[in-house]
Amino acid sequence: MKAIAVYPGQPNSVHLEDIPKPTLEQVPDGHGVLVKVLKVGVDATDKEINDALYGNSPPGDDFLVLGHESFGVVEAVGPKVRRLKPGDYVTATVRRPGSSIYDQIGTYDMTSEETYYERGINLLHGYLTEYFVDHEDYMVRVPQGLKHLHVLMEPMSCGAKAIQQAFEVQRRMKVWQPKVAYVMGAGQIGLLSTLILRLRGLEVYTMARSHPPTLSSEIIEGMEAEYVCLSNTTIEEHAAKVGKADLIVDATGSSHVAFDAMKYLGHNGVLVWTSITGGDRSTELPSDQINIEWVLGNKLLLGSVNANRDHFESGIRDLALGEVMYPGVMEKILTSPVDGLDNYQEMIRLLVEDKSALKVYVNVADEN
Ligand code: BGC
Ligand code: ZN
Repeated sequence: MKAIAVYPGQPNSVHLEDIPKPTLEQVPDGHGVLVKVLKVGVDATDKEINDALYGNSPPGDDFLVLGHESFGVVEAVGPKVRRLKPGDYVTATVRRPGSSIYDQIGTYDMTSEETYYERGINLLHGYLTEYFVDHEDYMVRVPQGLKHLHVLMEPMSCGAKAIQQAFEVQRRMKVWQPKVAYVMGAGQIGLLSTLILRLRGLEVYTMARSHPPTLSSEIIEGMEAEYVCLSNTTIEEHAAKVGKADLIVDATGSSHVAFDAMKYLGHNGVLVWTSITGGDRSTELPSDQINIEWVLGNKLLLGSVNANRDHFESGIRDLALGEVMYPGVMEKILTSPVDGLDNYQEMIRLLVEDKSALKVYVNVADEN
């Protein structure tokens, strides 16, 4: 069967690979699920892998099958599988457990080991192919009523984890009632984080450089959040108007913005970094000023990567709630379909060149 793959370490090596169709027997003890792939999303991580800045192939192979944002339909299940049946829509988690205690209790997103295994990213093949098989524990059911949001499940899980972690660490405050959130970046993670924070009742200011109206600003306003155009106003001016943030989520992909955001966090607040920056840029900062403000304000910086099954499930619940609160808004993120695995060059072109594409995804197959 066809698969879109790269040769890690070799820039712009995206190509079609021919790989064997997987079988249920590959998963021991009857817990396998065979999924027919319908759609797969791609993001900046795939771009960085194709730029040879990130990612590794599985041991023994010189190629890596791309794709970590999966959506498909169950085709067959092993004899022990009870949670899923043929015909169910599913997505799959990305990381697979190593051997630390966190891996062993299902929280592989928090592995304490240096080496991590991620399908389509690091040491494991991904989902940009026709079928995949995995243990039922890594499959997450997508409700029928959300199938039009297909490839958003994985990015949503990353947003869900980041914000859940922020609330979790803020239990240090005994009472934490965040009111003002800044979301830096209006790409997919920025938009999905905006939704999650709005559903928790925060006043959300989502910031980016483009002049409104843009599709992003329309989506942000559709969720009753405010779009702040950083070409018209500075974060400083904005903070003077509405106050510093209780919670900031950075999802810009720019390490400069990630550090700069430290200046705008209020006392006792938390700044969450979610971007994978595979490059080697460096930046200059008012470090004395930031240092003293952070110490005097008991502020916290939190990195967040990946997501486990619970985050997928809570992300899916929030998408369902989002459809009730802001009907029709989330699907606007799904801007840029590519027809079939054969069109992998078009997939990369959209990812690299089309600055207005919020979500590039491949229509791998139809349902029937
Ligand atoms: C993926 C995560 C992954 C991270 C780091 C992101 O693009 O969505 O699942 O953990 O890259 O590899
Ligand atoms: Zn991703």
